[in-house]
Amino acid sequence: MANNRVIGNGNAIPWRLPEDFRWFRQQTLGKAVLMGRKTFESIDRRPFPERLNIVLTRRPRRYADDVRQRDPLLRVRIRLNPISETSSGRLMERTLKLGSGDVVFIRSLNQVLRYAEHHDVMVCGGANVYAQLLPLCSTLFLTRVKREVEGDAFFPAFEQGFERAEILRDTPEFTIERWRRVDAK
Ligand SMILES: NC(=O)c1ccc[n+]([C@@H]2O[C@H](COP(=O)([O-])OP(=O)(O)OC[C@H]3O[C@@H](n4cnc5c(N)ncnc54)[C@H](OP(=O)(O)O)[C@@H]3O)[C@@H](O)[C@H]2O)c1
Repeated sequence: MANNRVIGNGNAIPWRLPEDFRWFRQQTLGKAVLMGRKTFESIDRRPFPERLNIVLTRRPRRYADDVRQRDPLLRVRIRLNPISETSSGRLMERTLKLGSGDVVFIRSLNQVLRYAEHHDVMVCGGANVYAQLLPLCSTLFLTRVKREVEGDAFFPAFEQGFERAEILRDTPEFTIERWRRVDAK
């Protein structure tokens, strides 16, 4: 986020930091990346390769149809119920059978939370999704852009629930910081 907490403008990230992008890639490769439908739009509906892309939307069927129509080569799955429980109580993880670079549309945050009980889920924005998920996150990797930027999407307040653990990178343009959750007093 920028000094004024901006993270987006006109559904795009209002800066270009290749080093930060490389860092994001490194941190998320092979993992599940969760994003809101608008963020998926902002990356031109191109799922991050070599990651399981989970996109939250209240209209997964209609949206998936639309995505398929525009890009028939994209491997799209709709999982309204990606995690379910068998009669023996074992979790069925149908999302795991998906290949890397696949995208799964889901309409329920609860389903993500179920999945996150057993796997790392990297929450990748945008503002709306951060606001809902940050209270449940244990670690926060924060890129701070060292200037004010014009924008219309903002990173929610998180400072009360987290403390800064380390500065992982410090460049003239930005820092990358790791914050960890602190127990409520
Ligand atoms: N700087 C960064 O690191 C960064 C990272 C990511 C994004 N961004 C920026 O953030 C902005 C987008 O953020 P945003 O807040 O506008 O949108 P968003 O969080 O990306 O997506 C919001 C959408 O997600 C779906 N959604 C959210 N919560 C849901 C829930 N509980 N259940 C079902 N669906 C749910 C809804 O989609 P439907 O309307 O389809 O139902 C909602 O409209 C863009 O400017 C983008 O560039 C910045």
